[in-house]
Amino acid sequence: MIKSVIKGVGSYLPEKVLTNDDISEFVDTSDEWIYGRTGIKQRHIAADNQLTSDLAYNASIRAIKDANISPSEIDLIILATSTPDQVFPSTAVKLQDKLKIKFGAAFDIHAVCSGFIYALSTADNFIKSGKYSKVLVVGSETYSRIIDWNDRSTCVLFGDGAGAFILEAINSNSEDYNEGIFDSVIRSDGEYRTKLFCDGGPSMSRDQLHFISMDGKEVYKHAVEKQTAIVEDLLKTSKIDIEDIDWFVPHQANLRILDATAKKLRLDKNKIIITVDQHANTSSASIPVAMDHAIQIGKIKRGDILLLEAFGAGFTWGAVLLKY
Ligand code: ACO
Repeated sequence: MIKSVIKGVGSYLPEKVLTNDDISEFVDTSDEWIYGRTGIKQRHIAADNQLTSDLAYNASIRAIKDANISPSEIDLIILATSTPDQVFPSTAVKLQDKLKIKFGAAFDIHAVCSGFIYALSTADNFIKSGKYSKVLVVGSETYSRIIDWNDRSTCVLFGDGAGAFILEAINSNSEDYNEGIFDSVIRSDGEYRTKLFCDGGPSMSRDQLHFISMDGKEVYKHAVEKQTAIVEDLLKTSKIDIEDIDWFVPHQANLRILDATAKKLRLDKNKIIITVDQHANTSSASIPVAMDHAIQIGKIKRGDILLLEAFGAGFTWGAVLLKY
């Protein structure tokens, strides 16, 4: 049986930091309001000349180094983003070219904040098909470019960043859930597409600036509800108890969503990896960024059982259960 194991993890946050106090200089808000409602302290902002593909490249190089492989060994790149460099070609093929890879395939996945979970699940299934053996999975975003910096209800929530995993195929003698990615599940319900969106696009409008719109309370309610349900489903099919999870690595949107989800799942709060305070919501990048940080500071170790989960616009949501 073929299984996918995580060989390497890397992340990149742009140099420029924008604190809550910095934002309160140009919109009517405060550190107290932002931190109290979201747990966010600061976010990173890409330089004018940095595109989503540049952030993706920096994170990928770190993941490749961590995996101790050469870029030429990678036979598939799956890049999750909702802020691509351009309409086409995909950001994934730009990354492929930056890495000087001439082999295999590269494509983008668009599932907004659930993008990394969708990409990881897709990569795992491609590996299990036996067709690919080393897959670079990336989440990369430049949300600073789609934020209305005059809208205090959304501009405080997001930031820029990128994170990446290298997945490798291994042959396993066991069908048990005992190594690499155990299982994954992805879901969507387009009925809720108007609750969180960034309008515009080539088919809808031309030459207009497009910004995020959100019904915060609805997003909050569904995020907690749907993430809880999907995690319970995944644990049930995998026959893993919530107590067996060493670390919960959720999409970093908002501390209150994380706390409420953990409470509903009766999950020990000390097992949640939280980095949203440092970089705000980086959409599809947030899970690998959080994971890399937790590995660097020695929290997540090889052999730990991890539960990754996300919720985002669409609505989309999903979860992945794995042994690191
Ligand atoms: N600073 C100060 N006041 C603000 C700000 C701000 N940045 N933003 C809104 N307010 C004001 C509003 O104008 C309103 O004022 P009013 O009572 O005078 O009208 C008041 O604060 C309350 O506004 P609400 O929108 O009702 O605030 P709420 O308690 O719902 O908190 C929040 C807003 C934090 C966005 C919350 O709804 C939430 O966490 N939603 C989840 C959204 C999220 O995380 N989205 C991320 C993308 S989706 C994902 O990744 C899962």
